[in-house]
Amino acid sequence: MILDPSLEREARKSLQRLLPRVEQTLKKEISKDKQGWKQFNTRLQKNFPALFHLYFEIYNNRYDFFYHLEDLLVSIARSWFNRPIDLRELDTTREENPLWFQSNQMLGGVCYVDLFANDLEGVKSKIPYFKELGLTYLHLMPLFKAPEGENDGGYAVSSYRDVHPPLGTMEQLASLACEFRQAGISLVVDLVFNHTSDEHLWAERAKAGDEEYADFYRIFPTRQLPDLYEQNLREIFPEEHSGAFTFFSDLFSSSISEGNGGWVWTTFHSYQWDLNYANPAAFNRMAEEMLFLANQGVEVIRLDAVAFIWKQIGTNCENLPEAHVLIKAFNSVARIASPALIFKSEAIVHPDDVVKYISPEEAQISYNPLLMALLWNTLATRKIDLLSQALATRFKIHPETAWVNYVRVHDDIGWTFSDEDAAMLGINGNDHRRFLNEFYRGRFNGSFSRGLPFQENPATGDCRISGTCASLAGLEKALHEEGDKEVELAIRRILLIHGIILTVGGIPLIYLGDEVGTLNDYTYRDDPAHERDSRWVHRPRTDWEKYEKRNDVNTVEGRVFQGLKMLIDLRKQHSVFAGGELEIIQTENEHVLGFTRIHAGKRAVIFANFSEQPQVISKRIIEQYAVQNKERLHGRSNILQSLEPLDLMIFG
Ligand code: GLC
Ligand code: GLC
Repeated sequence: MILDPSLEREARKSLQRLLPRVEQTLKKEISKDKQGWKQFNTRLQKNFPALFHLYFEIYNNRYDFFYHLEDLLVSIARSWFNRPIDLRELDTTREENPLWFQSNQMLGGVCYVDLFANDLEGVKSKIPYFKELGLTYLHLMPLFKAPEGENDGGYAVSSYRDVHPPLGTMEQLASLACEFRQAGISLVVDLVFNHTSDEHLWAERAKAGDEEYADFYRIFPTRQLPDLYEQNLREIFPEEHSGAFTFFSDLFSSSISEGNGGWVWTTFHSYQWDLNYANPAAFNRMAEEMLFLANQGVEVIRLDAVAFIWKQIGTNCENLPEAHVLIKAFNSVARIASPALIFKSEAIVHPDDVVKYISPEEAQISYNPLLMALLWNTLATRKIDLLSQALATRFKIHPETAWVNYVRVHDDIGWTFSDEDAAMLGINGNDHRRFLNEFYRGRFNGSFSRGLPFQENPATGDCRISGTCASLAGLEKALHEEGDKEVELAIRRILLIHGIILTVGGIPLIYLGDEVGTLNDYTYRDDPAHERDSRWVHRPRTDWEKYEKRNDVNTVEGRVFQGLKMLIDLRKQHSVFAGGELEIIQTENEHVLGFTRIHAGKRAVIFANFSEQPQVISKRIIEQYAVQNKERLHGRSNILQSLEPLDLMIFG
């Protein structure tokens, strides 16, 4: 980051003033670990100006700015002293190879601890399976202490320092992280930092009338400000509560000065209270939680719901500039005291906004919701126009970052493509979204999909889509209502879209269960904690009997698994799939996506036929990309004649 010279000078001056105070506070720790302090100091000197600048940008209007800055420094230093030796070594290794996550060896997976393997010990026992699949990155869905019953799949955190008791303990998590590391797998967990559960100690204190903690949240005694804010807000979970605020009648019970009751900012569910980052104490405490997790061996922090962390009247309170400053500030904290840690942003928003979170100083990696949505769009329309356009114009990001490419995760599918891009292709965004929703709910004539609506908004008619990869790709319908031919097509769809995320550049991420063709599970409707949230249809308990069939190619499970495994192995064998450099090929066939990947002097050429009919690519294009001189790495077609239905051809 390039700093204004006068700010840089002020930063140095401030550090000179603050450091002796920090040294005084941490006298004991420093005398026990002089070498560690020296190492810390080097990183501090290097990164403090950036941190100072960012912190100043947000909090310069606070009378107590320096109090909070000093408090933050003490926290950061303290956390460094608690950082285990092996992680300090990892810090050095990662600093020497900061682009480790761009390797073609990278393969991500994501699962719920309880649903996948009951508890953390269960997950540990699955390490051999993770290695078999080839995972180098595993995101364990929120596993922190959360309210009983409804807790948004763990996204309502009651303590960032405790594992949800049925899953295990924090010590077990740290030991799991260590075993993962030895197996070449980086542990990824969420930092749910937009909100806490209403049972978090901070929220409990706020409820009891402790002003210091009430300031951690956004609580309003009357509707006046909420009404003003709501003029511009989107509703995120409209089926649960309209607007962004929830009234609690039992607030401030012990406080004499306040009345009782207040409106709490709750973007998501009423039991998820948005944190107030206008308060530097909230930032400092969350920075501590982040460093605590890093010290347990977490290597990637998934920053949950990044778009929402800053609010400003008169705006839609999403993707505001201050949100970026805050994330960068968290990032510079990590550079000082846990440099091995990287951030993944979860911004499921307009593509113009998604990319703004991605940079070495902010989130080094990011979900790619656009690619995800457009893969499904392309399967539905059998036309590659939007996908090809998006890859040509929106795929390129900073060379020191990477996309996390996925076809499904635990959430719904939102059609977050840009209306302006669609208009250029003569597509009306709204109408098209309506079509996609109908298609994936299985209501459009000829649809192969069995999806469910999520958060249907009666006011706007909007909804998003739930369902497992296999059910959305046609496997459920084919198995239950059709026959072998459709089963084959569904499997090809699953492998086609996975083949793209495995070759397109960035980190491919598999939602575990999809690799054996898991279908929708409708039993969530019998569970009072889940019945109102259709996302649970694609969050089933793992069926290990299905997994046992994975090596038998006479089973559907085996066909999906072996097909996928072949693509995974291919990715790992060829370094051309590292990095993220991609060029689109104009195939002149509206059903065939074409692109080339370039890395380390090598070039791969990929063609993907999204239609259920054979398709032809002109000889001229095949010659232009010298396909005939390359080795066919994958695919069943004879490219000079035609591409078979839903075939993925890879040449290298
Ligand atoms: C993220 C999670 C989602 C959750 C929301 C609120 O978007 O992926 O599951 O509901 O944040 O925490
Ligand atoms: C909204 C949010 C996104 C979140 C999702 C949860 O789309 O923008 O961050 O993942 O809701 O389903």
